[in-house]
Amino acid sequence: KRIAVLFSGTGSNFAHIINTLHKQEVEIAVALTNNPEAGGIQLAKEHGIPLEIIDSKAYDSREAFDSAVIERLRPYGADLTVLAGFMRILTPVFTDQIKCINLHPSLLPRHKGLKSIERSYEDEYPTGGVSVHWVTSELDGGEIILQKEVAKEGLSFEEYDEKVRAIEKVALEEAIRKALD
Ligand code: GRF
Repeated sequence: KRIAVLFSGTGSNFAHIINTLHKQEVEIAVALTNNPEAGGIQLAKEHGIPLEIIDSKAYDSREAFDSAVIERLRPYGADLTVLAGFMRILTPVFTDQIKCINLHPSLLPRHKGLKSIERSYEDEYPTGGVSVHWVTSELDGGEIILQKEVAKEGLSFEEYDEKVRAIEKVALEEAIRKALD
């Protein structure tokens, strides 16, 4: 099966997919970023993964950007698109056409949107965690594929953050398998 991976920053989740699934269980047919400065660009180059850069700042509407992304992805014929730290809100232009999953660092439906790790750490529940879900036009709102919990007790924020960032990689890997099943 072929997947497309979309990222905006460091790309540590992208790196995990390269190291675990790529060329073994799946083929990363293309990586795409909206950020010309993203650290993940280097990863794509090192691993010879076709890369598309579409600077979201050059588009004046979300819909125009989404259409451009769809057009760039189309030739690669991916079976599934994976948002791995892709920090853009997608409109129905995209979500109605593209079969897509997203990684989110909280136990949804808690803490949709930004700063989810901070907000999870500070809330009243004893556990936080991560979710991978199907992408719809509702931000962080689609059907959940899987979640993993992280107990907060006794952890400093830095320790909690580190655990979340480790477990989200495992969650994403498992969810890609499930979504392609
Ligand atoms: C991850 O914490 C992801 O859950 C969130 O953005 C971060 C991206 O990290 N949506 P990276 O670029 O994969 O290192």
